[in-house]
Amino acid sequence: MTDRGPALTRQTVIVLGASRGIGRAVALTLAAAGATVVAVARSNGDIRFGGTVESTVSEILAAGGSASGLNCDLSEETQIDGLLDEVLAAHAGLDAIVNCAARLTSAPLADLSADDWDESFRVNARGPFLLTKAAMRVMAEHGGGHIVHLTGSGAHVASHARIATGASKAALERLVIGAALESDESVGVSLFDPAGLVKTERAAILRPDLDWTGVPGPSEIARAVLSLLRRDPAAANGQRFVFDPSRPDLIRTEPDR
Ligand SMILES: NC(=O)c1ccc[n+]([C@@H]2O[C@H](COP(=O)([O-])OP(=O)(O)OC[C@H]3O[C@@H](n4cnc5c(N)ncnc54)[C@H](OP(=O)(O)O)[C@@H]3O)[C@@H](O)[C@H]2O)c1
Repeated sequence: MTDRGPALTRQTVIVLGASRGIGRAVALTLAAAGATVVAVARSNGDIRFGGTVESTVSEILAAGGSASGLNCDLSEETQIDGLLDEVLAAHAGLDAIVNCAARLTSAPLADLSADDWDESFRVNARGPFLLTKAAMRVMAEHGGGHIVHLTGSGAHVASHARIATGASKAALERLVIGAALESDESVGVSLFDPAGLVKTERAAILRPDLDWTGVPGPSEIARAVLSLLRRDPAAANGQRFVFDPSRPDLIRTEPDR
């Protein structure tokens, strides 16, 4: 599909979770739309699923885009502060953050350890809290923009062995709704739900038993995220956007809650 929307030229966008999956596709798509992308993930990520920040940056540069890479563990407070400091030191401003980083824990309650529970909340809720708090302040000082957190239906609907992921995503969603209440008009804090399974590298490796026919890929989700970033941040603030597979370039918004 040809992208005919306005370019994101001169916009600096941080994409967390950019080493693979949806985050990698978001980074490539935003760079193709003209954004200067700062691709972020851990330096010692999960090697089972391939992809690094460096490989995503190389792909963007090879396609003629603008990108740099930084390592940041979203579970570490000092690394989150350091990330924003580094980006602001290297760029004129910061126009958007798309947080696709997540810890996805799969274990039934009987096998779920307290460490798994804590780590899910550190990455999926505590890290986004620290990031949102710091970013709302600096983005308001630099003219505003979007802070988008990826979420999933598991925040609302229980599914087997996904208790830690679902509970931490539910906390993330309350964080976003609360932060939006306190955001000034210039910064839009919002959620994006891919609305079901996405055929990422990780998902395909972990679920070879599934029939993936018709399941959207990361680049379809990324195009919808791009259309979100083209909206006025004030109009996106506090909204929960849901991917609509019948209109991959558009997104529908759930009513205010
Ligand atoms: N795939 C789906 O079917 C689906 C469906 C609905 C919602 N979602 C949501 O969409 C988002 C992206 O999912 P995905 O499937 O693309 O996930 P993924 O393939 O597992 O990628 C997760 C990304 O997060 C990074 N990451 C993990 N822990 C991190 C940490 N502590 N600090 C910084 N980065 C970290 C990973 O990089 P490193 O390991 O290199 O750090 C990787 O880049 C998630 O919020 C997920 O809940 C996905």
